Parts: sequence; C-alpha cells; structure tokens
Amino acid sequence: MSIGSERDLEGLRAAGRAVADALAEMRQAVQPGVTTRELDLLGAEVFARHGARSAPQLVYGFPGVNCISVNDEAVHGIPSSRTLCDGDLVTLDATAELDGYMADAAITVAAGAAPPEARALCDVAERALDRALHLVRDGVRVNAVGRAIQVEVEEAGFSVIPALSGHGIGQTIHEPPTVPNYFDAYDTTVLTEGLVLTIEPVIAAGAGDVVLRDDGWTVATADHSLVAHAEHTIVVTRGEPLVLTA
Ligand code: CO
Repeated sequence: MSIGSERDLEGLRAAGRAVADALAEMRQAVQPGVTTRELDLLGAEVFARHGARSAPQLVYGFPGVNCISVNDEAVHGIPSSRTLCDGDLVTLDATAELDGYMADAAITVAAGAAPPEARALCDVAERALDRALHLVRDGVRVNAVGRAIQVEVEEAGFSVIPALSGHGIGQTIHEPPTVPNYFDAYDTTVLTEGLVLTIEPVIAAGAGDVVLRDDGWTVATADHSLVAHAEHTIVVTRGEPLVLTA
C-alpha cells in the first residue's frame, strides 16, 4: 500500500512495533534445547499483548503464529517439537496484523556457538539489508535495490535465492511491487514516496535453488546449504526510509 493518511502511518507503526517486540522476545529465548514451538508461543504472547494477530495464519491459513525456519530451511518453517541444537541457525519471521494493517520482519540467529561460516552468512544478510536500506528512496528503481543486495552477497561468496523476494505490504501480506534480491534488467518499477514494502535478503551458503518440502509450507535449499534472512518493513520517503519494524 501507499500511505494515504496519518492514520495509515500510525496503524502501520503499531503493527511494526508488535513485530519488533515479538522478534526481540523470541531472539532472547533462542538457545540449544528450546523447541521452535516454544519460541512461537513466546511470539504469540507478544502479539496478544499488542492486540495483534498472525498475518500468515489470517491470510494463508499458516499452521503456526510465526514462521520459524532452521538451517537449510529458507522460509515458512512450521513451529514444531523440533529441539534446537548447538550451532543451529534459526530464522524468526514475524508478520503481524493489527487494526487492518500488516508489517513483516525477520532475523536469523544462532543457537549456541555457530561455526564461522554460519555467522558470516548471518552478517552478510544483515549487511545486504543495510546496504539496500541506505539506497531506498523516492525515484530509485526496484532493480537497483536488487543489484545492491546481489553484489553484497556474491562478493562474500554466497548466493541470493531468486525465488524469494521482498514485497509491497500494508493491507495484506503480499502486495505489489515484488522486490527481487537480484538485478532484473527488465524491471522498470520505480519506488515512490509513501510506498510500504519489505526489503528481505534471503541468502544461501551454497546455490540458491530451493524446493518445497512435503509439508506443503517449508521452502528449503535443494543442496541443504544453510540460509540466513534479514528483513524489515519500511516506508519509502524522499530521504532515508522509515523503518517500521526496527
Ligand atoms: Co516478507
């Protein structure tokens, strides 16, 4: 959506705060021995405190409150009795609906002591997001954002996952435009002031090909390589973007 009123901005900010709080609470609880369902319940409690609901549950019938993906799982992992092991990478992806407004963010964190390559992968996802956020403003092409992310990721020796992109958001989860994490020469879409969207590099240590698991939800890397994901929901302005989920 594009911001049309002060009410839109306030509503989106409130949804963004619910997301940021849920991620902070879940992140603190990530450690070996905890299950992904326990993490999800913590996030659910935060949403309830804010009066927010799980947007993926609402819009897509997702069988959990938050998407929690481990190691080679890229997105849409279902919270379960899976126990985190020392060194696992866990992606917490929270999308809240509050008073009709939606915001979406994700972080990848290590349970215990992750190997250096796993830590580097998380750092690069964060760096690529940061680089993109510094670029986003009114008048910039969507494909310039993708190019910045792709360059940052490939210079580090990792891959973007072309099948997974950022997206417009606000009144539902996935709205136009699509924001690829790579340079698409044919995409002439230009960012405009007030546009609400996610920027979300999802990157793999190996190749960027993904498969859908038999559960019908979990998207994982075909070569089982590790994944890291960093995401914020932002509003495009004439200067630095307004980050709603910080
Ligand atoms: Co998203």
